[in-house]
Amino acid sequence: MNKNEIEAIEVRLLLEAVYQRYGYDFRNYAPSTMRRRILKCMEDESLPTITALLDRVIRDPAVMNKLMMDFSITTSTMFRYPACFKIFREKIIPVLRTYPFLRIWLAGCGCGEEVLSMSILLREEGLYERSRIYVTDMNEAVLEKAKSGIFPVGKMRDYTLNYTESGGKSVFSDYYTAKYDHARFSPELMKNIVFAQHNLVTDGSFNEFHVIFCRNVMIYFNRELQNRVHVILYQSLIHLGILCLGEKENLHFTPHENDYTEVNDQKSLYRKTRL
Ligand SMILES: C[S@@+](CC[C@H](N)C(=O)[O-])C[C@H]1O[C@@H](n2cnc3c(N)ncnc32)[C@H](O)[C@@H]1O
Repeated sequence: MNKNEIEAIEVRLLLEAVYQRYGYDFRNYAPSTMRRRILKCMEDESLPTITALLDRVIRDPAVMNKLMMDFSITTSTMFRYPACFKIFREKIIPVLRTYPFLRIWLAGCGCGEEVLSMSILLREEGLYERSRIYVTDMNEAVLEKAKSGIFPVGKMRDYTLNYTESGGKSVFSDYYTAKYDHARFSPELMKNIVFAQHNLVTDGSFNEFHVIFCRNVMIYFNRELQNRVHVILYQSLIHLGILCLGEKENLHFTPHENDYTEVNDQKSLYRKTRL
């Protein structure tokens, strides 16, 4: 047995131990991503093997928290994939105007970039007051960051460009106050938001939504797990509800491939058309 095969066994044992000890189920995440993240954590902890990391993780919840942050991969930007937000404004918003009340679910929200993007967009379109945005993530620490509405001020330049490209109708800097090295977004943008811990691997549907964003979360899952999540998303959408996926994701080969119609050619926005 070569080194890689032994490492693969260690990865499986570590993920099984994490599941049994803490209840977080990463066993069906893409093996290559898990391996990279585990090796990074092993290095940070100055440990010689994955087995040594396993030993530490099951005994020390603080190391588990660290591993959890590594597994979360929270990379994001505000108005990420601006073309998608632009189409959302142009094609979806007019339909959403016809509902008296809107429930929107941002699943796997990251550290708040997507939340604020949605909140700003709904305000500018006059729909914020009739919306409730449910923001969920498996990681409590990530949710806490998202709630803070604080970002490094250095990121504002890129966020401003994305905002403009996405069809933003105002002056982006009006939404935050810059102080020292950080930018704090207006608490007004957090008014109609419910933050909750929800794990797409182990938890089920919890409401019916007009819109669900689940972007760049399933790219880390194997096919079986992606299919499970697609069933939850489908069950959680009203008829004619909108599903938004990441720019590298689509519905091909998923159990609900034929139950949606594409809203845009880039295959990131879908309307649920079959019950
Ligand atoms: C790359 S970020 C995506 C953030 C945002 N949706 C975007 O597209 O920019 C992935 C997020 O998914 C969350 N996540 C990963 N596995 C999850 C799971 N099983 N259930 C819920 N959230 C999960 C991570 O904690 C992280 O915040």
